[in-house]
Parts: sequence; C-alpha cells; structure tokens
Amino acid sequence: MASILETRSVTKKFGGFTAVDNVSLSVEPGEIRFIIGPNGAGKSTFFKLVIGIHSPNTGTILYKGQNIEKLKLHERINLGMGVKFQAPSVFSELTVLQNLSLANNRKDSLKVNDLLNDFSLEKEKNNLAGDLSHGKKQWLDIALSTISKPDLVFLDEPTAGLSLDETKLTGEIVKNLNKQGITFVVVGHDMDFVKQTASKVSLLHLGKMFIEGSVDQVLSDKGVNDIYLGLS
Ligand SMILES: Nc1ncnc2c1ncn2[C@@H]1O[C@H](COP(=O)(O)OP(=O)(O)OP(=O)(O)O)[C@@H](O)[C@H]1O
Ligand SMILES: [Mg+2]
Repeated sequence: MASILETRSVTKKFGGFTAVDNVSLSVEPGEIRFIIGPNGAGKSTFFKLVIGIHSPNTGTILYKGQNIEKLKLHERINLGMGVKFQAPSVFSELTVLQNLSLANNRKDSLKVNDLLNDFSLEKEKNNLAGDLSHGKKQWLDIALSTISKPDLVFLDEPTAGLSLDETKLTGEIVKNLNKQGITFVVVGHDMDFVKQTASKVSLLHLGKMFIEGSVDQVLSDKGVNDIYLGLS
C-alpha cells in the first residue's frame, strides 16, 4: 500500500539560507507521526511545505501516491487533508455549534455530538467560540480540522499554552480520533505529549532529517541528547 504522505528530497531556501534541507519522509496510514527538533530546526517550514503554504525549491511531495507539491492549501484539503495551525483559528463571533457546522463539508462526517463529548465542549456548544478558554479554543480548532473525517490531519503544536491536564486530554483525543481511522502528523515540542501520543518520531536538526524511529529509539539516542543540550 502507498504511503499516505511521502516527501522526497524536499528543500526550501529563504535567500541563501536553507531552512529545509533534502528531507525525505514517509508516513504510513494509521500513524501518529511527530516532527520534533530544537528551535529553528525547520519543523514549521516543513509543515508549511506539506500543506501548501510554501512551495519547495526542489523535491517531491506525494499524498497517497499523488504528486501534490503544486496544489494550493484548499486543493490539498479537498483531497482529504485536515490542518490545524498553531494559533487557534476559530470564528470568535460564531457559537461552537456554528463553527462545527461551517467546517463540516462531508456527508459521512464525524457526529457533532460525539465530537462535543470527546472534546468536553458539550456545555459550551451554544457559547461564542471567542468566549472559550484558550484550551477549549485549541480543542474546538482540532475538532474543526477533523469533523470532515480527513484521512490525514496536520497539527502544529496543538498543546501550546495548555495546562498539563489539558495536554494529557489532548493526547487522549488524538489517540481516540486515530483509532477512528485518522492518520496524524504533529509538530510538537512537549516531550511528555510526544511520549504519550506518538507512534513514530522524526527529528529535524538544522533543516535535515537527523533520526527517525520509535519514541524510545529517538529519545535514547546520544546525538539527540547533544542536540537538545545545544552541543551539536
Ligand atoms: N519566511 C521566512 N523567511 C526567512 N527565514 C525563515 C522564514 N521562515 C523560517 N525561516 C527560518 O528558517 C529556519 C527554520 O524555521 P522554522 O520556523 O521552520 O523552525 P522551527 O523548527 O519551526 O522552530 P520553532 O521550534 O522555533 O518553531 C529558522 O532559522 C527561521 O528563521
Ligand atoms: Mg515552528
């Protein structure tokens, strides 16, 4: 079976600076793949290449075997990709329910009541999204990116600004959605969240793919320790 997402030797330069350097990666259906790495490693740039905000200077991006690197963000979403940006992008002036019905563009979507329940948003369903706590805005945003049951969802730092308990619940939500058939690619910083949630980890360093493997393999690697301690 084809990988759900594959990048082949993808490079992105800003002027003379190479932010993403020859990165090849394959994500198989059913994974919860984390992209980790220190500040400036190229994670968000890679994320933007895959969802269509940047185009690569060289290299190929395949979604289910189809070449997509020339497609725009909305065209990639129409193919079955879901995206959640780092800052919550909910409609503040609409209620939680209105946000969910706007985002829902497929008949076989996830059930609104199940989503409200999974994301602990039941009590707030008629509240304006702008009045939600930061954590609940993040969850509503994840719900918006998954309601149409995309096959592949990208989350950029979904636990930024969340408490420990909220982070843990976010991991449970992601794992629950994964069991319902959604493959995830998550840009993450929070190692507890990575350990709780990831099925496989790819670590970028200075724009290059440094190591890939299970959470244990990657976090026990001596080179990875040096990178996070700033020694290499
Ligand atoms: N639009 C841009 N123009 C010029 N340089 C950029 C641009 N976007 C990113 N960069 C540079 O590319 C490098 C990688 O940035 P990127 O945001 O991808 O890193 P990151 O791994 O997401 O870091 P962080 O963990 O801090 O979010 C950085 O040195 C950054 O300054
Ligand atoms: Mg980033």
